[in-house]
Amino acid sequence: MAPRALIAGNWKMNLDRAAGEALAKALAAEAAAVSVELAVCPPAVYVASVGVALGSSGVALGAQDCHAAASGAHTGDTAAEMLADLGCTYVIVGHSERRADHGESDATVHAKAEAARRAGLVPIICVGETEAERDAGRTLDVVEGQVRGSVPQGLTGATLVIAYEPVWAIGTGRTPTADDVATVHAHIRKVLGEVSGDAANVRLLYGGSVKPANAAELMAVANVNGALVGGASLKAGDFLGIAKATP
Ligand code: PGA
Repeated sequence: MAPRALIAGNWKMNLDRAAGEALAKALAAEAAAVSVELAVCPPAVYVASVGVALGSSGVALGAQDCHAAASGAHTGDTAAEMLADLGCTYVIVGHSERRADHGESDATVHAKAEAARRAGLVPIICVGETEAERDAGRTLDVVEGQVRGSVPQGLTGATLVIAYEPVWAIGTGRTPTADDVATVHAHIRKVLGEVSGDAANVRLLYGGSVKPANAAELMAVANVNGALVGGASLKAGDFLGIAKATP
C-alpha cells in the first residue's frame, strides 16, 4: 500500500505575520476535510506564531532550512533542535534556491538532514536537475547523485521525505510530463533502496508549479506520494484544491 500522501506548503520568503496566521487558521479549519496530510513551512521568524495558529488541527508545522550544528557561533542560523522546540515535524533541506543562493552542496544538505534526524525532525530533502542538465540528457544521473550525496543512511518512511523538484519547473508554470515524473520517481525509489531499508514507504513528493489544475494528473503518477508546493501554497483555496485532488 502506498504511504499516505503529504501536501507540504513552502511559503518561501512570503506573507507577513498576520497573513501567515490567517492562512494557517484557514487550513486548520479544513484539515479534517482532506484525506492527505497537510504541512506548512513558513519563514523561520514566523514558525512559532504559525504553530500557535495551527493549534491541534493536525496540520503539521515545518521550516525551510536548518543548520547542521545543534548550537554555537552561527550568526543568523537556526538549529534543528530549535525548530523541534517550536513544534516542527518537518524541515526542508537542500531546496534548489538554497543550493543556488547559498552554495549548499550535497555534503551540506546531508549534514542538515542528519541534524534533522538528531533533533527528531523529518527532513524533506530536495533534489532536481536544471534545465541545462535536462537538455543534456543528464536528469537521472544528476538526481541519482543528489540522492546518494544528500540522503543519510538508515532513514525510514517515518523519518524521511524526498522532494523531486526540477529547477526549471519551480515558479515557472512549466511542469514535466507525467511520464517524465514517473521515470524520475521510479529511479529515486530504486536508488533509495540502497540507502534505506524502508524505501517503499518513503514519501516521494513532486514539486514545481503544482496547482489545482494540474494536481490530479501529477499526483496520480506512480511513486508520487504528494507535493511540495510554493506559489500555490500561499492561498488556502489553491492549496486545499491540490490536497483534494490528491489520492
Ligand atoms: P512552486 O515552488 O510551486 O512555486 O513552483 C515549488 C518549490 O520551490 O518548492
